[in-house]
Amino acid sequence: SSSGSGSSNIRRKPVIILVVGMAGSGKTTLMHRLVCHTHLKDIRGYVMNLDPAVMTLPYAANIDVRDTVKYKEVMKQFNLGPNGGILTSLNLFATKFDEVISVIEKRADQLDYVLVDTPGQIEIFTWSASGAIITEAFASTFPTVVAYVVDTPRSEDPTTFMSNMLYACSILYKTRLPLILTFNKVDVAAHQFALEWMEDFEAFQTAASSDQSYTSTLTQSLSLVLDEFYNNLKSVGVSAVSGVGMEAFFNAVEASAEEYMETY
Ligand code: GTP
Repeated sequence: SSSGSGSSNIRRKPVIILVVGMAGSGKTTLMHRLVCHTHLKDIRGYVMNLDPAVMTLPYAANIDVRDTVKYKEVMKQFNLGPNGGILTSLNLFATKFDEVISVIEKRADQLDYVLVDTPGQIEIFTWSASGAIITEAFASTFPTVVAYVVDTPRSEDPTTFMSNMLYACSILYKTRLPLILTFNKVDVAAHQFALEWMEDFEAFQTAASSDQSYTSTLTQSLSLVLDEFYNNLKSVGVSAVSGVGMEAFFNAVEASAEEYMETY
């Protein structure tokens, strides 16, 4: 609903947390850590895996695309390569997504969160019809937020930082859902630099200007665009390995869910 008055057909709980991020950002490790945290703190949650091609998961999923769609058979049957196979498997799953939603609805009173792991190749979820269908199905039934996982050590390079933020920005505009920038791997590199760059675009421009390959006018205009983007989101620093930042993460989720209820 776009009424802005908080639509009545959306339940308050559970909150759906869509975990997305570039390959290697640590999504799966972070999912595992978040699941451990919920167990530890008696937070009631479901875990969903939407990656048809993942071999093994470090956590137990309550709902798993692999139970419904056999990725290898889809590849054979439709004569597809790996990415086409993943995409088609997700399409097949999306056609049955109303069933998934009703399973969660039936359990809604017993659930605080549903943590959703997405395919390793980010664009398979963020730029596909099935990704949009699944996102929309969630968001029209439950408060839904996006946790965008950032590889913090890799993002210390200003050019990488900017392209990562532009990608997050495109996801915000595509999904129109509250987005939490989740700076992962802070055990390796603190995310303070990122907070400073987001707070003060001139600080970012200074950092970027030391990069030879950088086109200054483009970066200057883009950092102005991103300045507006940063105003619309929350950021937290976490480490999937050390477990730092879990409370902050769930606080950001709660605040984002509130924002969702007020906006949609
Ligand atoms: P998929 O997309 O599902 O393949 O997951 P991913 O590629 O986003 O990340 P994955 O969880 O496989 O982690 C990638 C690498 O980063 C692994 O070597 C992890 O051990 C490492 N990693 C993940 N989180 C952290 C962290 O918080 N700190 C450190 N130091 N390493 C991490």
